[in-house]
Amino acid sequence: MTCCPSSESEKGADAGERSLSRTSALYAAGERWTVFRGDSLRVLPMLDRVDAVITDPPYSSGGAMRGDRTRAPSRKYLGTGGDYLPQFAGDNRDGRAFLTWSALWLSACLDLAAPGAILCVFTDWRQLPTTTDAVQAAGWIWRGVIPWIKPAARPQRGRFASASEFIVWGSAGPMAADGPCHPGYHIGMAPHARDNREHITQKPLDLLDMLVAAAPPGGLVLDPFLGSGTTGVAAINSGRRIVGIERVDEHAALAARNLAEAETGFSQGRGRQLALGPVSEAAGLCTGDASGE
Ligand SMILES: C[S@@+](CC[C@H](N)C(=O)[O-])C[C@H]1O[C@@H](n2cnc3c(N)ncnc32)[C@H](O)[C@@H]1O
Repeated sequence: MTCCPSSESEKGADAGERSLSRTSALYAAGERWTVFRGDSLRVLPMLDRVDAVITDPPYSSGGAMRGDRTRAPSRKYLGTGGDYLPQFAGDNRDGRAFLTWSALWLSACLDLAAPGAILCVFTDWRQLPTTTDAVQAAGWIWRGVIPWIKPAARPQRGRFASASEFIVWGSAGPMAADGPCHPGYHIGMAPHARDNREHITQKPLDLLDMLVAAAPPGGLVLDPFLGSGTTGVAAINSGRRIVGIERVDEHAALAARNLAEAETGFSQGRGRQLALGPVSEAAGLCTGDASGE
């Protein structure tokens, strides 16, 4: 593992980003993973071709009013008591700014994507329409929405529980209709206890396992909003590779640690080898009603 900036001046702190180069943005790397530290819009143009884009950007959500949206991410997504985790960046754009920004980074990702590469982008109910607009405005083909259902969501008296988030998915142009069949939904909770949540909006590893399984075996996955590195851990565990970008130092460090650990586990044979074989045929996913376009 090549790691990590040792002095403030090397860290690419915001002032340093003015003269960002691929080398100065490189934070840490191993055999199967690379973490860049910086703003995705600045770093993406320096990267090489990728086989899939799977990412969980800041939603800029968490309320109906401007005042709700501009609260600290820990308060929006964890309520009081979540302040023990580091805040993350870029979560307070209004509707138009979120659409513009999303179209910009999605377009930069499309420039890197191999023909037919899959795209998966997390969002919530408030930002779902804007996210599907942005995916198409950027030039991706929008192909569907995968619901992530959280059965233990907080009940609300007189209301429906807010019990799902969504993954908007698509492809870089036409995509082949071959390979395994992948499930179109996920049921499960996010890590929540203090000892297994390291990032305010950390996603469940088994959900990322499912998404990453749609990337080509051995392929390179891009996550331009890496957080604690869950996408990368799933990629490495399944024999794929990851290139990620994270703006906040603390999260870049966390991701680098998690990816290095995953790589060690993989090289010792602990990788779960997901999706290297015809998993879906074995699970019977390619049989059944094929009418659901
Ligand atoms: C929703 S979180 C990702 C969480 C991740 N999926 C996990 O399981 O840990 C989004 C991350 O993107 C980072 N981020 C926000 N704006 C960014 C930008 N412009 N460039 C790079 N990273 C950014 C945030 O600091 C945050 O850690």
